[in-house]
Amino acid sequence: MKPNLLSWEETLFRDQDVFDLNYVPEQFDYRDDQTQSLVFAIRPGIKGGKILDTVCRGPPGTGKTTSVKKIFDSLRETTQAILPIHVNCRIDASEYAVFTRIYTSLTKRGPPPSGTSVKQLIDMIARFVEQEQIQPLVCLDDANYLIYENQFNKVLYPLLRMHEVFPGINFGLIIIISDPGIDLQNSLEVRVQSTFHPEIIQYPPYSAREIAGILNERVKQGLYPHVLPTELLDVIIDHVMKHGDVRLGLDLIKRSVLYAEKAARKSVTEDDVQKAVDASRDLHLEMLIASLSDDECLVLKIAAELFSEETSPTTKEIMEALPAKGPKLTRISEIFKRLDRLRLIDLQYSNQGGGRRRFVHLHEDRALVLTILARREQAAD
Ligand SMILES: Nc1ncnc2c1ncn2[C@@H]1O[C@H](COP(=O)(O)OP(=O)(O)OP(=O)(O)O)[C@@H](O)[C@H]1O
Ligand SMILES: [Mg+2]
Repeated sequence: MKPNLLSWEETLFRDQDVFDLNYVPEQFDYRDDQTQSLVFAIRPGIKGGKILDTVCRGPPGTGKTTSVKKIFDSLRETTQAILPIHVNCRIDASEYAVFTRIYTSLTKRGPPPSGTSVKQLIDMIARFVEQEQIQPLVCLDDANYLIYENQFNKVLYPLLRMHEVFPGINFGLIIIISDPGIDLQNSLEVRVQSTFHPEIIQYPPYSAREIAGILNERVKQGLYPHVLPTELLDVIIDHVMKHGDVRLGLDLIKRSVLYAEKAARKSVTEDDVQKAVDASRDLHLEMLIASLSDDECLVLKIAAELFSEETSPTTKEIMEALPAKGPKLTRISEIFKRLDRLRLIDLQYSNQGGGRRRFVHLHEDRALVLTILARREQAAD
């Protein structure tokens, strides 16, 4: 074996899990203000008072989920008065799914018998809470998915009014919204607006210095010294700043190191980083597509199928090509707008040929979009 090469059993990772996307980091800097606001809202619940409702807003990868997960961990260690429940609305995107998740998390039982209505489910939840004398603290994470599916008010209303039907019962609410395009006030029905007065907690994008701090900390924890030269970490940071999501940085570091390991080198080279950057172009699109609802994927798929170098379909042509079980017509214009906001498509208006038409250009590579959509469909089967 050549000198200075990695032997079979050697690895460059001190701890590879540190780069996993679901890893909850020990070190969580730059979010003290947001954490303090959350603690302030939750604190009354420890003494049996009502937890204040909060809404956490900020673009993807700004630490919203992590800050709530860390607070939930510390609540579980310190108090029995509050029972934290985390609901991922990307997965549980309907009224029924959310209340089922709350019921199973609270009671630690299996799902309710089939045929149980939402009303019965809410009654069962309320009775359990009454009996156990606890205050559930429900985090509706990625609640934008409930808004897209028109389920948000249906979930909020019973939770906010629970104490009127069952005196003495309170629910604390943390709502996380990662779509900056959502106008919260406009998404609320009047009956919800009158009882929902949350404190809004903003999570601004991280600065380059903050991204550097976060990634440096992970590198120290996850890699052996000198594996990733500082100037190459800087290249990665520059790349992350273009997209703004810390996750991309974690992925780039992990991939670069895996390339170095594969070549049995003891440190990462510029070439490894470049290869990781090329591979991550797909990842960025994959993460974007993973964040879409099934209806949004369907519209994107049809847009991609109808799109070619020579012609772009109109919104009308796409709507006509949708299957009968597709999204309702009232939702489609919202879907086009969201796909445009995410820069998956570009909507272009034209008055040519009489009548106003909207053309849908595909922003990303057509073949890649279709491949990732097909992969997602396969994973769902
Ligand atoms: N301040 C921080 N310190 C250390 N790691 C962080 C910090 N902020 C975010 N991260 C890491 O970045 C990744 C994304 O964070 P998180 O999931 O909390 O973002 P989010 O705001 O919930 O994003 P989304 O809106 O996409 O759900 C996670 O792997 C997390 O560990
Ligand atoms: Mg999140």
